[in-house]
Amino acid sequence: MAIFIPEDKISEIKNTVDIVDIVSETVLLKKAGRNFVGLCPFHSEKTPSFTVSPEKQIFYCFGCGTGGNAFSFLMKQEGLTFPEAARRLAKRYGIDIPATALTADQKRKINQRESLFHLNAQALIFFRRALNDNVAGRRALSYLKQRGFSPETIDRFQLGYAPKGWDHLLKYLSRKHLSPALAETAGLLIARKGKSGFYDRFRDRIIFPIFDVNAKIVGFGGRVMDNSEPKYLNSPETPVYQKSRSLYGLNNAREKCRTENTVFIVEGYLDLLALHQSGIENSVATLGTALTAEHIRLLTRYSRRMVLVYDSDEAGIRSAQRCIDTFWKEHVDFRREDIFREEKADTHILVLPDGDDPDSYLLKQGPEAFLAAAAKAPGIISFLIERAVDKHGLSTEGKIRIVADLQTTLAMINDSVARALYVKQLSERINIDEAAILDKIRGAVSRQAQHISDRKYPSDTRSAINGSESLAASGQKLLSETGHRIEQQIIAMMLQFPQILPEIEGREVLEYFESNMLKSIGDVILQKQIKSPGQVSELVNFFEEPDKKRLVAALAISDESWDKKGCLKLIGQFVETIQRKHKSRLMDDKIRAAELNRDQQLLNRLLNEKQKLAMRSAKQKMALLNDK
Ligand code: CTP
Ligand code: MN
Repeated sequence: MAIFIPEDKISEIKNTVDIVDIVSETVLLKKAGRNFVGLCPFHSEKTPSFTVSPEKQIFYCFGCGTGGNAFSFLMKQEGLTFPEAARRLAKRYGIDIPATALTADQKRKINQRESLFHLNAQALIFFRRALNDNVAGRRALSYLKQRGFSPETIDRFQLGYAPKGWDHLLKYLSRKHLSPALAETAGLLIARKGKSGFYDRFRDRIIFPIFDVNAKIVGFGGRVMDNSEPKYLNSPETPVYQKSRSLYGLNNAREKCRTENTVFIVEGYLDLLALHQSGIENSVATLGTALTAEHIRLLTRYSRRMVLVYDSDEAGIRSAQRCIDTFWKEHVDFRREDIFREEKADTHILVLPDGDDPDSYLLKQGPEAFLAAAAKAPGIISFLIERAVDKHGLSTEGKIRIVADLQTTLAMINDSVARALYVKQLSERINIDEAAILDKIRGAVSRQAQHISDRKYPSDTRSAINGSESLAASGQKLLSETGHRIEQQIIAMMLQFPQILPEIEGREVLEYFESNMLKSIGDVILQKQIKSPGQVSELVNFFEEPDKKRLVAALAISDESWDKKGCLKLIGQFVETIQRKHKSRLMDDKIRAAELNRDQQLLNRLLNEKQKLAMRSAKQKMALLNDK
């Protein structure tokens, strides 16, 4: 049910819940030092890396990088929205959420949604009966049988039949005293033009009910049983049905998506049924609409690996580009070598051969062949690179066109490391210098940055631009690993040892940060004046971006003991590192000048100095590593 929960109730819930209780319902936890550990429910593992901190009321998995608080745990684990999770927690701890807290308008909306769900459920009863009716439904049932669908599949997906005629459903609903106006809102009836009254939208069609994750019916699809047009008819958008958010089959797929950590995304109703019937239950369908960022966001709750299945190269290319456009711009890449993994789907494209769709492919080749092909499905970028190579060939002109085709796509990738890796991949594939490709991308990035400079994540965009500049300059990774590591440590320290906050503020330590994301987290910590570790959970809630939530959880949960002395030392080292970097940059400028002037004596002296500087910095890095 749709829910409104007043702010003070949310705080009451926050202050009452115990994350250890909540997680223990699904994960067997063992005490380990100040924390608890267990096997991560979000990825499969044999040794426990899933950590829960009772003190900070957060969890973090060192294996897959998922992290958050009790609310995010429930949201992720059960696929709930925030208010749903809040309500669940309230119920568990006996916190009363008064209905009077709702305004009249909110009540009306909730009632309308509830009524629509009820009406859809009633309509489905009617469609189901009609399908199983010996006379009316016989043709529909035999059509499904002839397409290869078993009675179990038909039951599991609760398929139905809308009989021939204009008012069967209308009459049924009025017998049930359900208002035709409401049924019109639900998209089941259509108002007669110029006359009073209504008629049935779905006539003589097989009916596919569309469920949401809570198994409520949000809409319907209907297929003809011959070659008439339109082949499919779908519910229009209604207060409970938004196509950009709905995925057909998700309610039946979610468990398997989680255990397999893979989801197959197909286009059609019958493709989806065929996959489920073949035992490939971790599948959903987009139903004729393009895959949206919201779809992907919804699916990342259940699985990281996504395989988009298409019946032609063109469909695959179009969708891959749209995916990058809607999704990659907002999310950051996943880096294996970094424990601070950030949420991004690992998205692959599978194009089936010879115009087969999943349904016909499974009938011909069977599930093993499908899974084998899926295992080899290339990532989105690799797919686009290969298609561009197929299209343009590897002649000089071809290579120029390949780079031109891919430059905007690559420029859209926000994460500089991921982008650098893909640039490298492209460079190796077509044998063109990385720097030349980076040069092209830089142009595309700044053009694009102008479009999106006032979007949600301006600082990330900025870092993308700077990223490709210094990438282009050095041909290497943008971010100095050490700089980043220390920045991460400083944030961890701020979260775990709040006594140090005045020092951080006083010395303006955050001003030296290179990572925009870490800096913005630091700023919020200062602003919120975190005083106890318990407040970390609140901070996790504060950030809306999943990567920030995770990062905060990751940094807060490490079991380190800080003292003032150690903290001051770390700050000192950090400031020194930054100063050294500046010095080294200045030095490089001088060296370049000396080279230009052919002043060998000066050059030797500078190179010597530079070497000493490098030695000192190496020693310091060693000291840092040994300390921690
Ligand atoms: N679709 C739609 N309206 C149409 C055609 C298609 O909404 N007029 C959507 C349906 O969700 C359909 C999907 O797009 O399932 C894919 O369409 P298509 O490939 O034409 O149909 P199939 O799903 O393959 O159905 P069938 O195998 O029965 O032809
Ligand atoms: Mn088909």
